[in-house]
Amino acid sequence: MTMSRRKTISLLGGGTILAALGAGGTFAGTRTPSKAIAPWGLAGGYDDPRLNALSFGLLAPNPHNLQPWHIALEGEDAFVLRHDQSRRLPETDPFDRQIMIGMGCLLEQTVLAAGAAGYDVALEIMEEGPQIARATLSKGGLADPLAAHILQRRSCKEPFADRAVPADLAGQLAPFADIHTDPRMVSALRELTFEAWMVETTTPHTMQESIDLMRMGKAEINAKPDGLDIGGAFLEGLMLAGVLTRDAMADQNSTAFQQGIDIYREMLMATPAYVALTSETNTRSDHIAAGRAWLRLNLKTTALGLSLHPVSQALQEYPEMAPHYASAHGLLAPQGHTVQMLGRLGYGPQTARTPRWPLEEKLIV
Ligand SMILES: Cc1cc2nc3c(=O)[nH]c(=O)nc-3n(C[C@H](O)[C@H](O)[C@H](O)COP(=O)(O)O)c2cc1C
Repeated sequence: MTMSRRKTISLLGGGTILAALGAGGTFAGTRTPSKAIAPWGLAGGYDDPRLNALSFGLLAPNPHNLQPWHIALEGEDAFVLRHDQSRRLPETDPFDRQIMIGMGCLLEQTVLAAGAAGYDVALEIMEEGPQIARATLSKGGLADPLAAHILQRRSCKEPFADRAVPADLAGQLAPFADIHTDPRMVSALRELTFEAWMVETTTPHTMQESIDLMRMGKAEINAKPDGLDIGGAFLEGLMLAGVLTRDAMADQNSTAFQQGIDIYREMLMATPAYVALTSETNTRSDHIAAGRAWLRLNLKTTALGLSLHPVSQALQEYPEMAPHYASAHGLLAPQGHTVQMLGRLGYGPQTARTPRWPLEEKLIV
C-alpha cells in the first residue's frame, strides 16, 4: 500500500495530519501544482551553458526543500553560488551544516549536467561568508553516466518493501558511502531514527519550524514552491473543511498527532538498510564534499532501482537532541569523526517530483 492510500485511510479513520507532513505530501490528478514542478520540465532548455547546467543543479536534494541558493553570473563563463541568508533552519540546523550539504548537492548536480553537455567546471570553495563557491566552465568535460538519472532521483519518504538490499548492490554502493546491512546495526538505527524524530516532533520550537515551512494546498504550493508541500484532492478537502490546519498539526494532544506518530514509526521501521557519510573534520568544505557525495550516492541508488531517504534528526545540533546525536556518533563514527548524512536505503515507490523555484528567481546581479 502506498503512503498516500495509508494516509487517506488513516485520515478517514480519525484524521492523521502528521503523516501528510512526514510523507512530504504529494499531489495527484487535477490537484497537481503544475507551476511548482515546471522547473523539472525546463531543465536543459537554456542556451548559456552555465544556466543550462544550473537548471539541472537546482533539482538537487536540499534540507526542507528550502532552496537557499542565489546565483550571480560573472563574465562569460563563471558564476558565484551564494547563500540566501533569509533561508535558514535556525532551530534544527543552527550552524547551517545541512544547508551547506544542500549546496554541495546543487554543485555536484550542476557539474554532472555541465559534463554531459561537454563542459568542465573548476570549483573554488569559500570557507566562510555568504559566498559559497565560484564555478568556471570551460569546454571539454566528460559525461558521467550518473547524470542520466537526475530527473528520476528522489528522496523517498515512504515505507520500504520487506526486501533486503542484495549484497552485490550494497557492494556497488560501498565506494559512495558506508552501507549498513547488519541486522543488529539496522535495528539500532531504526530505534534511534524514530526516537530522534520524536524529539524533533515533540519539541515545540523545532516542530514549529517545520509547520512554518508547510505549503498547504495547490495555491500555496504554486505561490511558494519550496518547504514541505502538503496537497492532493483529499487533503485539500480537509483543509477547506478546517480539519487540516497548522494549529491542529502543532497540537500534541490531538488524535491526529498520535496517529501521525504511528504512521511515521511504521515508515521508519520499514527499512532494511542504512547509509552514512562521515568526515574527519567538520568544515564548510567537508559539508560541501558530503553534499556532493550524497548526490552521487542518490543518483547511483536511482540507477540501481533502490530508494534513498535522508533521516537527519539524530544529526541535528540543538540541546534537546544531544543524547541522540551522541548515540548516532557512537554507532556510525566511533573514531571521533562527524556524521554528515544518515539515510534509509531499500525498495520504495517512485514518488512525485517536488516543487522548485524557477532558475530566473534565483539569479541575482
Ligand atoms: C542535508 C539534507 C538533509 C535532509 N534531511 C531530511 C530529513 O531528515 N527527512 C526527510 O524526509 N528529508 C530530508 N531531506 C530531503 C529533502 O527533504 C528533499 O531533498 C527535498 O524535500 C526535495 O525533495 P527531493 O529530494 O525528492 O527532490 C534532506 C536533504 C538534505 C540535502
